[in-house]
Amino acid sequence: MIKKFKGLTFLSILMVFALVAAGCNNDGGSSVDVGIVLPTKDEPRWVQDEQRFKDALADSDYSTEILFSQGSSAKEKENVEALLNKGIKVLIITPHDGAAAASAVEAAKKEGVTVIAYDRLITDTDAVDYYVTFDSLAVGAAQAQYLVDNAQGSDVPLYLYAGAASDNNAFLFFEGAWKVLQPKIADGTFKIANSSEAEGLKDSAELSRDQLGKIIGQVTTNWDANDAKNKAQTHLTAAGDDLKGDVAVLAPNDGTARSIADVFASDSVISSYFVTGQDAEKASIQYIIDGKQSMTVFKDVRALVKDAMGMAVEILDGNTPETTGSYDNGSVEVKAKQTDVIVVNEDNVKSELIDSEYYEASEFTGLE
Ligand code: BGC
Repeated sequence: MIKKFKGLTFLSILMVFALVAAGCNNDGGSSVDVGIVLPTKDEPRWVQDEQRFKDALADSDYSTEILFSQGSSAKEKENVEALLNKGIKVLIITPHDGAAAASAVEAAKKEGVTVIAYDRLITDTDAVDYYVTFDSLAVGAAQAQYLVDNAQGSDVPLYLYAGAASDNNAFLFFEGAWKVLQPKIADGTFKIANSSEAEGLKDSAELSRDQLGKIIGQVTTNWDANDAKNKAQTHLTAAGDDLKGDVAVLAPNDGTARSIADVFASDSVISSYFVTGQDAEKASIQYIIDGKQSMTVFKDVRALVKDAMGMAVEILDGNTPETTGSYDNGSVEVKAKQTDVIVVNEDNVKSELIDSEYYEASEFTGLE
């Protein structure tokens, strides 16, 4: 009896060794060092991040796995749990909803995993170790500056749109834009066309998070091209001719910019429009070449991927990654590494995006 028990124990120890040696986990799958969770495949921005991660990882010594949350916080949590079961040491995650993702990253922290927020901050939790991001305030400021630089005369109707209120970046983009636009609303260059909340706050140079939330709540696109289209249609249906003619449109990103631009282009009382964007999505680069979108803010995803993977490797190697600043997530100051952004319009689209080998010229038509 005793002998048998000992034999069994020895056998189980052997089996555990065999599993570890084979790099296996208790779910039977192979182990993964770095788990990457991206928000949705429905937007080219994140499909591109996946591809850029794959390019960067081609000759990495560490194993990685990329999962998509398809715009669902529940799916995101499942993804994190699946990666934890594969034994990840580092989690790189772009939350679908910055606050709702807290429970997923808290589960990761409990397992001793280092959490890196990628592009979007996870808010109201101390379970985020690092944040790699573009300068999001600068994104909004660049969009607004473009509208200011191209505004002719006074009382130019200004249409404001924002990202999803569940994304901390939507606040940063709008805050950055408002700082540049507000003095130009106050001096009569622009008149707000589509937001009573912004109108009510037009004398405030600085907006609190609550005030930003009120405007964003009113002009949100939810990062959805259809929502953006419906909102733009509603706004133009309600607008009188005094709010048409030559107009300026703050659109938060390329996906929403294209659908908002289509709506403005089809209104016969709109004689011209300037519309902003961000992400340098291929479809928007074509829109810029075709004169249908005015600008985009180019965020070189190669740099962000390099920073995120660089950080992950430092952590796996037992070192402390370098950071350049920090972001308050409502609970803690999260150490951050930030990357600059580049404004692209028809004048520099070739030098910034083709000459830098971000895209190939053959992917576009009409490029000079
Ligand atoms: C990102 C943008 C993106 C948007 C919608 C933001 O958090 O920074 O690049 O366009 O989400 O997905």
